[in-house]
Amino acid sequence: MSNALQRELPEAVVTVEIVDALEGGDMNDLCDATRAAIDENAGFGWLVTPGHDRLERYWQGVLVVPERSLLVARLDGVICGAVQLVEPTRHNEAQSFAATLLAIFVAPWARGHGAGRSMVEMAEKLAVERGFGTLNLDIRENQLSAISLYESLGFTRWGTNPHYARVDGKVLAGHYYSKVVNIAALSEERDAPNLQRVIFGDG
Ligand SMILES: CC(C)(COP(=O)(O)OP(=O)(O)OC[C@H]1O[C@@H](n2cnc3c(N)ncnc32)[C@H](O)[C@@H]1OP(=O)(O)O)[C@@H](O)C(=O)NCCC(=O)NCCS
Repeated sequence: MSNALQRELPEAVVTVEIVDALEGGDMNDLCDATRAAIDENAGFGWLVTPGHDRLERYWQGVLVVPERSLLVARLDGVICGAVQLVEPTRHNEAQSFAATLLAIFVAPWARGHGAGRSMVEMAEKLAVERGFGTLNLDIRENQLSAISLYESLGFTRWGTNPHYARVDGKVLAGHYYSKVVNIAALSEERDAPNLQRVIFGDG
């Protein structure tokens, strides 16, 4: 007879929300998750893991940029990842239909539970709600999990820049992706950016 103790563990609960401010321990949790992702080479631009203060200033900065919306994922209530939806600047009338997804990551300890997919789905919903027609993004060639995630959600690769990033002295290619999220919005003039946050779900 085995002495192993087997327990039925409940499924982890993933939620995603758009945040205007990070209160209580949320900022610390976001910084910890960011550091964990960067430590593991998923830098989305960072090569050296910044200290807590620098990261906190970075996230505070993101929160005050009018064109950026910050979406965070929680695993069982704890912030474990983020993605940013970036709107075109007000003067960019010719590309007013196109929003950009930036810097998705999930802390290594929280991966594989659907947080990444839920964040992209929520960002897509938000983009449609705000009147955008397409979502663009670019990504390093070696970020294979994220590439698989985006391709599974219908993003199409339309180009590659062979000189996209330099990591540890090595130049890497990067891929450009796009997805039409609302075909009608491509031919419609978009209203001036509505900076009011849209809340999904019960809130
Ligand atoms: C990409 C990332 C955000 C996915 O987060 P996650 O919460 O683990 O993803 P999910 O559990 O929602 O999985 C969604 C899909 O991602 C892809 N994926 C996730 N982990 C993967 C892995 N280890 N290998 C290949 N594909 C993977 C799959 O397509 C998966 O779909 P499936 O579950 O139907 O197979 C996460 O792996 C990460 O933070 N990577 C490093 C950061 C990064 O590369 N960012 C992109 C550049 S900015």
